[in-house]
Amino acid sequence: MTHQHHSITAVPDLNDRYDLYGAVHKGLRKAGCDLLVRLGATDFDDAAETEEVLGLLRTYLMLAAAHVGHEDDHIHSALAARGVATDTVDHQHDDHREAFEDLEKLARGVETSWPMHRRANGRRLYLAFAAYLAEDLGHMHEEETVTAPALWRQFTDEELLAIELRIVSSLSPEKNMAFMRIMIPAMNPQERAAMLGAMQKGAPPEVFDAVIEFAVRPALNARAFGDLAGRLQIAA
Ligand SMILES: [Fe+2]
Repeated sequence: MTHQHHSITAVPDLNDRYDLYGAVHKGLRKAGCDLLVRLGATDFDDAAETEEVLGLLRTYLMLAAAHVGHEDDHIHSALAARGVATDTVDHQHDDHREAFEDLEKLARGVETSWPMHRRANGRRLYLAFAAYLAEDLGHMHEEETVTAPALWRQFTDEELLAIELRIVSSLSPEKNMAFMRIMIPAMNPQERAAMLGAMQKGAPPEVFDAVIEFAVRPALNARAFGDLAGRLQIAA
């Protein structure tokens, strides 16, 4: 596939096709934007606050790196097997892996700096994260407007669902839970009910209950949880 220049506001319709990127990208966008705001508001002179925000950054970087790996291993390789080149998004993934290392170095810089340099290093981390996030937003847009249509041309919805299941089943329960925690509050009520409704039908009850208690309930406000409980017919 040759990459053609396209308008950033021209978004292809879903046309009822399987939305492989939708939920996880919503989660990564929300987690990234929340974290950016949080980094900007952090008092880097406060050790406890700094430790907390760096912990959030490291969780985010772990999930973002895992996500890039899943797309390489399960999506780009599937496209390559059908003769579709993925050079643009492959290069963007390489740039992101470099950015993850740089951001970890900047985080360590904040932790190990003399108190008088801590605020300056916090500002560097904040601006670097903003620049990374700007690129990631552009990259995810490329995937949802260029790569997704390529997937819809090459694969049936059943095949796309099988790709997603291969990704999900490659994850440890802890990582699965961490992804759910960022995705659930980022989705709209219909998407949330559809994803968790499928899990309610397909997963063992104790797994479903654990997801509700540890990933869903803590991530939603009372109103959003009440709405979901009504749709799934579970106890609010
Ligand atoms: Fe990606």
